[in-house]
Amino acid sequence: MIADSPLVLAATRQPVPHTPVWFMRQAGRSLPEYRELREGTGMLEACRTPDLVTEITLQPVRRHKVDAAIFFSDIVVPLAAVGVDLDIVAGTGPVMAEPFATRADLDRLPDLTPDMVPDITESVTRLVQELGDTPLIGFAGAPFTLASYLVEGGPSRTYEKTKALMHGDPELWEALCDRLARISGAFLRVQVEAGASAVQLFDSWAGALSRADYTAYVQKHSATALGAVADLGVPRIHFGVGTGELLDLMGAAGADVVGVDFRVSLTDAVARLGASYAVQGNLDPALLGAPWPVVEARVREIVDEGRKAPGHIFNLGHGVPPHTDPDVLTRIVEVVHEHSVR
Ligand code: CP3
Repeated sequence: MIADSPLVLAATRQPVPHTPVWFMRQAGRSLPEYRELREGTGMLEACRTPDLVTEITLQPVRRHKVDAAIFFSDIVVPLAAVGVDLDIVAGTGPVMAEPFATRADLDRLPDLTPDMVPDITESVTRLVQELGDTPLIGFAGAPFTLASYLVEGGPSRTYEKTKALMHGDPELWEALCDRLARISGAFLRVQVEAGASAVQLFDSWAGALSRADYTAYVQKHSATALGAVADLGVPRIHFGVGTGELLDLMGAAGADVVGVDFRVSLTDAVARLGASYAVQGNLDPALLGAPWPVVEARVREIVDEGRKAPGHIFNLGHGVPPHTDPDVLTRIVEVVHEHSVR
């Protein structure tokens, strides 16, 4: 039963047989079998092809024996599905043909309806059957992170245009995030209705914001996206990079689990969050390249810190780097399981 899986138990702050573990970007370029399968197929096309999505999602589950699968897709897939002209450029990330700039651009962001993504429903349905007792995590990008790609036109380090819009035309910002929250929420809902057992909202770049700006301009829109699946009873994970100062606000947006990156210890995260949230994290991905004894010692420390949390899902502080030796990930799963067995 999925309800008894370590991932769902930890997310809902119930006792677990062992600490569950999965890795952000566990499906991807660190796996030779992924690189082989993706040969000759663009990222967006791969995300819309159920045979590929199913196989790529399953690859890390078979190989590493992780406690959850993460649906193979991308945060910009729902934007492309409603008609936004964009591409995912290898080594760069999402790039927009026409950045979002004016009120007229809102017309390019209609609601996402399930008939626009029948392939997503098909992929999730097939995966849930194949995965059996292993939960599938569905996901979406949060409004702020999606807005940053739309407004900047691609990846950014400074979010200058995004912040200029947020502060310079709060009404347009509000309208943009309202559209994006509806699209994200609908994308989460499609996945859960097809059988996903949990969801993660990726606000990857929210760490660029102050608490004041997050509260005034972002939090309620993430709450709308997470709220779209509130009635479906699945645990909701809320993650961002460099969000140590925002953890409580991200929890309050409607999460059961708050993702913690490597800049804040799990002990400090729990002190900031209190007893109402489980935590997910937080091995520094850069450590994956360190000698194994160093990695193993750090993994054990994180498992021990996690025992003091109301619930703990082991993960990295961010995604698996492409050049990671996949055997290190397999060994981490073994150590987390052995070291945490109750
Ligand atoms: O295993 C998993 O985690 C599932 C798959 C997944 C992908 N993207 C696949 C992908 C998930 C959860 C995402 C979400 C995503 N996409 C986020 C949020 C997560 C995070 O990293 O914070 C963001 C910010 C994006 C936008 C994006 N898409 C970036 C920054 C990139 C990397 C560009 C690059 O090549 O370095 C992508 C492309 C992407 N998404 C790849 C994968 C496997 C690489 C494309 C390829 O293999 O050609």
